[in-house]
Amino acid sequence: MLTVAVLISGTGSNLRALLDAAAVPGFPARVVVVGADREADGFAHAEEFGIPTVLVPFREFETREHWGAELRRQIDVWTPDLIVLSGLMRLLPADLVDAWAPALINTHPAFLPEFPGAHGVRDALAAGVTETGASVIIVDGGVDTGPILAQERIPILPGDTEHTLHERIKPVERRLLIEVVRAIATGEIDLASSAARTDAP
Ligand code: GAR
Repeated sequence: MLTVAVLISGTGSNLRALLDAAAVPGFPARVVVVGADREADGFAHAEEFGIPTVLVPFREFETREHWGAELRRQIDVWTPDLIVLSGLMRLLPADLVDAWAPALINTHPAFLPEFPGAHGVRDALAAGVTETGASVIIVDGGVDTGPILAQERIPILPGDTEHTLHERIKPVERRLLIEVVRAIATGEIDLASSAARTDAP
């Protein structure tokens, strides 16, 4: 059974989907801890499932490195096999990425490498393109630059707002995340060899 830590900042709808999937008998992974950099609404999902939560408030630390060290200390207590950044709106310090990679993955609401960063949905709308997407990647030292594990295109419809578009992206993100976690758990995805790749799937 693959053990998973999930890090969030917000509502945690992707976390919720993973918790629901993991509750189905036969799913080969389980969430062992949920962490956040702020008081995240998504903690409620963890509490509902009886999963421990770890709050490491970014603002209480002098540097990103100090915050990262404490986050690492508190998450590593649970010895997760995989760490999922699911709406964590903070960059991890480089030494933490090095410590956790390649068992460190991220969901992103765009078809990477298009529209990386904190505003993937807004940036796609602003660019006036007709389609965007959702991606699950291995985290590397850059911002949303790591090897792509799964991704799918999503059309942008006339009249879409950041909210309506993001709400159409999220169900796809959830499905991709669950598929990727399952594939990592079964060995279908080997993170070490995926991390060594430079091409898309
Ligand atoms: C998700 O769409 C996730 O991909 C995005 O934040 C949302 C969190 O939603 N993350 C990023 O944009 C990171 N660059 P949730 O809290 O409801 O799961």
